Amino acid sequence: MKSSIIKIVGFAAVLGMFGSPALAEGDAEAGAKVFKKCKACHSMEEGKKKVGPSLFGVIGRAAGAVEGYKYSKAMLASGLTWNDEKLAEYLTKPRALVPKTKMSFAGLKKEDDVANVIAYLKANGG
Ligand code: HEC
Repeated sequence: MKSSIIKIVGFAAVLGMFGSPALAEGDAEAGAKVFKKCKACHSMEEGKKKVGPSLFGVIGRAAGAVEGYKYSKAMLASGLTWNDEKLAEYLTKPRALVPKTKMSFAGLKKEDDVANVIAYLKANGG
């Protein structure tokens, strides 16, 4: 009897860890695939700029803060800090958050893609 209770408790704990799709925590591995859409313009390597700035360390950083990268005035004036929430907004619809951003990217349509790519950014120097 005791052991079956332990099994049930164990199972519930596992469910708690992996079984809650409502959780906004993304999957970095799936995010690596999503990042392919960003790669043309962004590197995760520190200081390496492409069309867009390096995204190394972007989580928690002020918008427009990579030295040597020429941001749009809109991004510099945005006053944003890239936390999960603001990143999710920007990646869903860049021009809704920063109307004159020069990031010409339509946005990610799927919420999962957004959460996963943010997890990827975090896992790679974010
Ligand atoms: C077509 C090129 C292009 C694509 C594709 C693109 N970006 Fe960008 N991104 C830019 C440019 C250009 C900027 C600078 C925007 C500005 O100054 O207004 C930027 C800015 C950003 C910023 C703000 C960086 C900072 O230092 O403030 C983040 C975060 C970002 N992009 C994430 C992404 C992610 C994640 C993807 C893929 C889902 C992506 N971008 C796809 C070109 C692109």
